[in-house]
Amino acid sequence: MSFGKLTRPMRDILASVVAGRVVYDLGAGSGGHGKKRGASRVICVDKSTPWVMPRGVEFIRSYINEVALPDDLDVVFLGWPVQYGMPGLHLWLEKAKTIIYLGCNFGGTACGTKPLFQYLLMRRLAYHLPDHRNTLLVVEEPLGEGITREPTPEEAAALSGQVVAYPGASTLRENPSWTSTVIS
Ligand SMILES: C[S@@+](CC[C@H](N)C(=O)[O-])C[C@H]1O[C@@H](n2cnc3c(N)ncnc32)[C@H](O)[C@@H]1O
Repeated sequence: MSFGKLTRPMRDILASVVAGRVVYDLGAGSGGHGKKRGASRVICVDKSTPWVMPRGVEFIRSYINEVALPDDLDVVFLGWPVQYGMPGLHLWLEKAKTIIYLGCNFGGTACGTKPLFQYLLMRRLAYHLPDHRNTLLVVEEPLGEGITREPTPEEAAALSGQVVAYPGASTLRENPSWTSTVIS
């Protein structure tokens, strides 16, 4: 079972981002979101044994801080990351060329820690696909020394430390500007 749910547009974006690349799915659970989707390899890491694992996917049963960081880390996928954090995650994020996040921080749900979202704000947002069940974010290269971007509503909710209601699909659709605003 996977915690999150991918909409059709999310699946399409995921496929275009991971095509031909090596993906590390950290805290993969049963790996439902870490399916190959055209990736050359998907390596799922989880401290617990999965119930099921999609075909063609590799699995490492371990805490992520006990896995050697690959020299050339390409894509990191975080699906519904735990809110208490994964020790060593920042080392993976700093090395990754692309970070894909899927999670929900509305209505009392929390996926990920404040440091995770503070870090994501320092990288260029390539895709932001909100949905009532969960949001897909794809971030690329760092924006540069001391530069952060405007948080998406999903990130703002996570950083607020409060219970934030889902703003509604129409509100999110009418305000598509989060990808471009950066704050020096
Ligand atoms: C909420 S589940 C999400 C699973 C999956 N990514 C999904 O989207 O359905 C969080 C997963 O993170 C794993 N996990 C938590 N801390 C971890 C750590 N430090 N190293 C590896 N796995 C960890 C848990 O075992 C659990 O399977």
